[in-house]
Amino acid sequence: MPRFEVRPFGDVLGADIVGFPFDDFSQDDVDEMRRAWIEHSVVRFRDTDIDDATQIRFSSCLGPFVIHPRQLQQGKHTGHPEILVISNKKKEDGSPAGDLGDGEVRWHTDTWFKERPPSAAILRALEVPPTGGDTYFSSMYRAYETLAPELKKAVEGRSIHHQTVYDGRGEIRLGMSKPESDDVRTWPGVAHPIVRTHGESGRKALYLGGSPKYSWIIGLPLDESRAILDQLWAHVANPDFVWRQVWKKGDMVMWDNRCVMHRRDSFAPDAIRLMHRTTIEGERPV
Ligand code: OGA
Ligand code: MN
Repeated sequence: MPRFEVRPFGDVLGADIVGFPFDDFSQDDVDEMRRAWIEHSVVRFRDTDIDDATQIRFSSCLGPFVIHPRQLQQGKHTGHPEILVISNKKKEDGSPAGDLGDGEVRWHTDTWFKERPPSAAILRALEVPPTGGDTYFSSMYRAYETLAPELKKAVEGRSIHHQTVYDGRGEIRLGMSKPESDDVRTWPGVAHPIVRTHGESGRKALYLGGSPKYSWIIGLPLDESRAILDQLWAHVANPDFVWRQVWKKGDMVMWDNRCVMHRRDSFAPDAIRLMHRTTIEGERPV
């Protein structure tokens, strides 16, 4: 018998997990929860009253951690290297105490420019602004299933060259420099299939990564690639596949980074938003 209840939000994505025994849970409880998560792609726990150590123990039942380089940057961690702080808070010297600031974050999947992007991200709200900063999740299963037939055919068997020079905000990544050529096809990057098959559910999902601007569909002329990518990126924002999380303090949301994209609204700079995030290793997309 599960020790908690699963309440789906609808038939596209998302479910509340109600009554998860955070005070006293076993690997079996997390495995049971994981099955619901695979089915619904995003799960939410409300009114959690847990500390970092509990979030870390819960997350460790899902697989090995990904330690983001920024997690180790001085002062951004919380004493637990497994936790990435997502916040607009500032340290005493005025430098950022967390990642992502107060700005809008556009549609993406996390760390798409790595060979093995994470499988799961677990984000827990410690402080939330009165308005703004909502997070939206879009089902890439549904996006794939509803692609126009000619678009489905155009991307079948194809991969995207995800360049690794610029990040999602258009800034040069650490250790990279401006390429000599404007031709993105010559830039360093990683290739991932546009349609990936989820290793656990067996379902096909659209996989676009996180930065439309410099992406290229390998093997296609640049203009053709651009036209197809623009159509694909417009498609994932279809409100029919999207669920919106309006955060309350104590919410913890866990998304499947293999089959959902997410984005975030901006919020007022004088408000404080503080989230603690853990991230779990994933497989190479196939
Ligand atoms: C992230 C992210 C969205 C948010 O942590 O990867 O995109 O709502 N966060 O802060
Ligand atoms: Mn993200």
